[in-house]
Amino acid sequence: MLSKLLHDRKTLLIEIQSLTRPSLHQIRDWYQVQSKALSNDLPREPIPSVDEVTTELTTPKSSAQYMLWLARNSNQEPVATAALLLFTNAQQGHLACLNLQIHPAHRQDEKIGSALLTTVIRSALVENRRSITAEAIKGTYADNFLSAKGFRPVNLLTELLLRLDVTDKIESNDSAKKYLGYRLKTWRGAAPDHLIEVFVEAKKSIADRPLGKLDFGIPHWDAAEVHALAKSLNKQGKHLHTTALIDTKDGNIAGFTELILPNSLIGRAWHNDTVVAPALRGQGVGFLIKTVMLQQIKTIYPDIKEIYTINADSNLAMLKINLKLGFRPIRQVIDYQLNLT
Ligand SMILES: CC(C)(COP(=O)(O)OP(=O)(O)OC[C@H]1O[C@@H](n2cnc3c(N)ncnc32)[C@H](O)[C@@H]1OP(=O)(O)O)[C@@H](O)C(=O)NCCC(=O)NCCS
Repeated sequence: MLSKLLHDRKTLLIEIQSLTRPSLHQIRDWYQVQSKALSNDLPREPIPSVDEVTTELTTPKSSAQYMLWLARNSNQEPVATAALLLFTNAQQGHLACLNLQIHPAHRQDEKIGSALLTTVIRSALVENRRSITAEAIKGTYADNFLSAKGFRPVNLLTELLLRLDVTDKIESNDSAKKYLGYRLKTWRGAAPDHLIEVFVEAKKSIADRPLGKLDFGIPHWDAAEVHALAKSLNKQGKHLHTTALIDTKDGNIAGFTELILPNSLIGRAWHNDTVVAPALRGQGVGFLIKTVMLQQIKTIYPDIKEIYTINADSNLAMLKINLKLGFRPIRQVIDYQLNLT
């Protein structure tokens, strides 16, 4: 374990621990910082459970790995955390995604965040990264912090929420007549074996989504990655619900949309990817599959009351679909980026 001691002018000591194999005690301290920061910044939002956070931090990923740090003050209180996700696939090996949280009670001491960020940047350089990206809710501490530390805003996004018990836009869309030449297929978890190849091909087109000037590269998708995502969600007590439209002529996927469902009764589900095959875009397929999926969710999971999604502001097609279905904007998010080269 690497450990650092830093002094500031007021002789406050900050110890930054690098967590290679976090103990339960360290994870509990990590969670304390995370949950306090989230409930402070997003008071009306559900906070992930300690089990979800533990699973996310400790489950090996197939094409990325975390570097984790926990900062303590001289009283040994946990005051800040940093998670740097390093992609290991060829097309994203330049990238590191940062999630840095400072306990609200310790934000007035700007040395804490600075010391932690310095440690993170050094490590990213050692790992030959060219960019560090970080997401911040507009107007929060993170927004001001990243901006002050030289990160540049490169992509603007909007978080939206659909109240399933309020919207009347879903039932009114009688889209079934448009299935001609296609068949609908729905599955839970990873794509079934007989569809995995065509699904991976469809999934790769997520690389087409507009991301402003974000240096994101091309995400890696293969069958192992599809299974790894399903397994990781399962360990967190969640699962994927996918609705796909399949071309009956060649068996290819015309479009699919994914929702992440909780196993607990928190009443919220989260959108994952929605993709339409490039040749079929602009013909109503995206709207159709999302409408059908939402109709299914209302029937199969009556406890789900709201659905969360996040869209790049430049993704006009996706935004139009979501607004037509009754999603309403709740917050703005900024993707920040620090170029290291
Ligand atoms: C986003 C996406 C799923 C939309 O599916 P689609 O089948 O092309 O969308 P639709 O044909 O249903 O169009 C929906 C609306 O957007 C409009 N639209 C379609 N393409 C557009 C474009 N490039 N720019 C502006 N508006 C567009 C349509 O005219 C329609 O508007 P209307 O309701 O006023 O008629 C698809 O473009 C896609 O796969 N993009 C790449 C991946 C992606 O960005 N996924 C979303 C993030 S997870």
